[in-house]
Amino acid sequence: MSTAAAQPVPDNMAERLRACTACHGKEGRATSDGYYPRIAGKPAGYLYNQLVNFRDGRRRNPMMTYLVSNLPDAYLRDIAAHFADQHPPYAPPVPTAASTTVLERGRELTTRGDAAKNIPACAACHGDALTGVTPAVPGLVGLPRDYINSQFGAWQIGARHAAAPDCMADITRRMSNEDISAVAAYLASRPVPPNAAPANATPRKPPLDCGSITSVPGKR
Ligand code: HEC
Ligand code: HEC
Repeated sequence: MSTAAAQPVPDNMAERLRACTACHGKEGRATSDGYYPRIAGKPAGYLYNQLVNFRDGRRRNPMMTYLVSNLPDAYLRDIAAHFADQHPPYAPPVPTAASTTVLERGRELTTRGDAAKNIPACAACHGDALTGVTPAVPGLVGLPRDYINSQFGAWQIGARHAAAPDCMADITRRMSNEDISAVAAYLASRPVPPNAAPANATPRKPPLDCGSITSVPGKR
């Protein structure tokens, strides 16, 4: 009947994902303690890849692995789609204690890269606005500094992998610890533009091959 069809569908997915928001904040917007990453509004393919990677051991975090262990691909895809559709506001950046020299080095790596060290500009893949690119490249603004540093640490020690070729692991090998701190300080100091959303994928070829971009999510 048409009246029945007009009833709102109960949002069971939102209900089931309340466990996630205990750590990732209301609607996945991150918490103020500076580590738990925001998951809201990130590209669905990116979120899905991470959930699969935690489940299958390519990315190591005991809590995350436990939560998604044994969940089927289809369920992880639904979870990813749910959080990709949430757009709660971003908190303003935490004031930075980094020097102007450090911030300038971070800005240079982000916007131009370092040709001598063969480090491509971060913006070449993460988007000119650094808000990510659909379907599988995350934004770099709105991430806590500790979280960014820790992801580079994970690439250095092999605790985080993506589908091969793993471009972020390759880039990390070309960066010194000073480069990493500089880029983390710079990115964390950037305000998130209003209505930030991942850019639509452009035909522009990434400066390095990334398996997470070229392989269809879930089919590896
Ligand atoms: C006990 C706390 C906790 C809970 C509950 C939790 N997470 Fe996480 N999650 C984390 C931590 C910590 C990280 C960062 C791990 C790292 O450093 O790699 C993370 C990372 C992630 C990432 C990767 C984010 C990125 O930008 O790469 C996704 C996606 C994610 N969680 C989704 C979920 C979902 C979906 C749920 C609910 C099913 C959930 N999490 C529940 C703690 C938690
Ligand atoms: C060749 C393309 C490319 C370039 C250049 C690049 N990235 Fe990435 N980056 C990616 C892809 C693809 C991912 C997603 C990897 C995955 O699925 O785990 C990623 C993920 C990340 C993440 C994880 C974000 C999160 O939420 O966990 C960080 C941090 C990051 N990149 C920082 C950088 C920085 C800083 C630079 C510049 C020094 C850079 N990237 C340059 C392609 C690139």
